[in-house]
Amino acid sequence: MKFYITTPIYYVNDIPHIGHSYTTITSDIVARWKRLNGFDVFFLTGTDEHGAKIAAAAKEREKTPQELCDEMSEKFREVWKLLNISYTDFIRTTQRRHFVSVEKIFQMLFDKGLIFKKKYEELYCVGCERFYARKDLDENGCCHFHKTKPVLQSEENYFFKLSAFQNALFERITNPNHKEYIEIQPEERRNEIIGKLKLGLEDVSFSRTAVEWGIPLPFDKKQTSYVWVDALINYLTGIGYTENETNFQKYWPADIHLMAKDILWFHSVIWPAILIGAGLPLPKKVYSHGFFTLNGSKMSKSLGNVISPQELVDKYGVDAARYLVATLMPFGPDGDISWQGLTLKYNTDLANNMGNLISRTIKMTEKYFNLHVPQTVPNLELAKKVAAILKENFVSDMDNMRLHKAAETLQSAITLVNRQIETDAPWELAKTDLDKLASCIYAYLQATDIIVMHLLPFMPTVSEKIWQITGAGCDINGAAKKYFENTVIPENGFSIPNAQLQSPGILFPRLF
Ligand code: MSP
Repeated sequence: MKFYITTPIYYVNDIPHIGHSYTTITSDIVARWKRLNGFDVFFLTGTDEHGAKIAAAAKEREKTPQELCDEMSEKFREVWKLLNISYTDFIRTTQRRHFVSVEKIFQMLFDKGLIFKKKYEELYCVGCERFYARKDLDENGCCHFHKTKPVLQSEENYFFKLSAFQNALFERITNPNHKEYIEIQPEERRNEIIGKLKLGLEDVSFSRTAVEWGIPLPFDKKQTSYVWVDALINYLTGIGYTENETNFQKYWPADIHLMAKDILWFHSVIWPAILIGAGLPLPKKVYSHGFFTLNGSKMSKSLGNVISPQELVDKYGVDAARYLVATLMPFGPDGDISWQGLTLKYNTDLANNMGNLISRTIKMTEKYFNLHVPQTVPNLELAKKVAAILKENFVSDMDNMRLHKAAETLQSAITLVNRQIETDAPWELAKTDLDKLASCIYAYLQATDIIVMHLLPFMPTVSEKIWQITGAGCDINGAAKKYFENTVIPENGFSIPNAQLQSPGILFPRLF
């Protein structure tokens, strides 16, 4: 079973911030989750390096476009390393392999008569790297995303016959029984796309004459590929479209393209049309999330209110930063974030709930059993309860991009164990019933192991650490893979009787 997941490829004229990190972290969590479920995952991310915007940014900094791209693309890779992103490949659109793919697709569309030359005059927004009709602009004639006025450009370009795909796209987007059905999520955005599609599609310009920093068209070297066409094709190049046929056949079509709402139209209309034109299967799912604002305002470099991944990691640590960013708001609608909100969630979910469970379980094991898993008749009742709660909700939430809900379920499983500790009052049992005490502590450790396996995609390093702390002998990834196959807990649980536990230190110090 294969699973191919992608993030957008990010423009290199910006530094990676929490917005890019959100898409990449959530994609990484899904990729890790799928791997634990036995899928052979290909996870692609990368950088989008062509276009007028990049050329202008390079000029401003007195660099060649390639120098700027090398420097900035590296920053993205550094940040993904910092955030422990487990991508399979990192594509750069300036790579040779990508030129070959783009040329191949263009030539194919051209040969099929889907590309034609036309002179036109239209409004172009450099920020979006796209043309706009007047009706698509706000009341001041500005682009909705950049609040700047697009400029009138006149060119003779190659156009793609997008209008010819109206019916084919409509069928594939609206009919779940279509064998090439493309599922657009969330529902409201899918409806917007369908609404817009009903208004009719116009042919789109697929090349530029004025933009030199791009991929020349194979049939007219004086023109370069429109940056968006170049960018979308990365999803083919990344899995070996022109250089590794076996890999390409194995992974294409993409199982899910993730992105924010700003680029959903390109992914759910233009991209499928290109693929139909090129005779390739369509991605199965296109899922967009909202935009976030910071304390109610748009994040922007000029306002100086951009949260950097480094700041998040400095404050919360890598694993907690991943968990917080991915679960602070639902995947789909717009949302507002704030440092206060992040810290509150950190204290509630991690310092208090999770941290408390680990710290008191280990402390009691230390006090009463000299830091060893108690030797007792295996008591897996609590672990089974936890497993049942998680099986019911967590799995479907993870499979359907409801990561914040999956985290809620995880927290309720942790709360359940914490409550059980209160009810059992092991500190009282220590005075009256040592057998029961051993059985209870054993049960908490086993229940924690189940929780931690579910936490693994969100917090890979901390989960592994907790797994070792609780005396589970085997490798967590192997154990979790086996567990998720049929969600059956081994007869003796995971923490091995008499195994030496480790002192956790303070996993999640409370923050103020
Ligand atoms: N290069 C194009 C994408 C081509 S994909 C074939 C592009 N790049 S971008 O650098 O502007 O990245 C856009 C993506 O970054 C969004 O779709 C989203 O994934 C992420 N985000 C950037 N800012 C964001 C927010 N403020 N909020 C949420 N996500 C944001 O578009």
